[in-house]
Amino acid sequence: MEITKVYFIGFMGSGKSTLGRRLVRNTSWRFIDMDDYFEEKHQMTISRFFEVHGEDQFRIAEKEILQELASEEKVIIGTGGGAPCFFDNMQKMNDSGLTVYLKLTPEGLVDRLKTGRNERPLVANKSGEELLQFIKEKLDERTKYYEQANVIVDSEALPMDAYGTLLELSGVDLK
Ligand code: S3P
Repeated sequence: MEITKVYFIGFMGSGKSTLGRRLVRNTSWRFIDMDDYFEEKHQMTISRFFEVHGEDQFRIAEKEILQELASEEKVIIGTGGGAPCFFDNMQKMNDSGLTVYLKLTPEGLVDRLKTGRNERPLVANKSGEELLQFIKEKLDERTKYYEQANVIVDSEALPMDAYGTLLELSGVDLK
């Protein structure tokens, strides 16, 4: 069966959006960033949504977005870092497309999260050792979900320009 949807999953800062945007360039596919979609839909930043409604409501709203996106075709979806870890979201993604886990070490993630921390409420006030500790703990909790992905990529080892081939070998025709 033809694959018409790819989900990039992984921790905050793992490069889901950067890679997704790059891969669809010069193809008829589109990239959808779940966080951007969320902010557009709710007319509010994710940080503000956390402040006003709290994380539990965020997770419910995030699940609804995944349901809305399930009917899209020829899309790479950059999912929020927590999305695979709540409800049956991971199962739903595996049922409706190809899931690709961009796997990085906590040390690799901490480096990338130093910038862009402020828009991410879970890490906004953390830095240095505290940030690294948080990533280690969360990653530990989340790995069992992330590793249900169809494809697991050692993202610190795979060069950026190899992802197109990787998707092709996984049955994705990015034309
Ligand atoms: C979150 C990750 C964020 C965003 C929200 C919560 C998480 O997405 O959905 O801040 O729980 O890991 P990115 O992975 O795109 O930063």
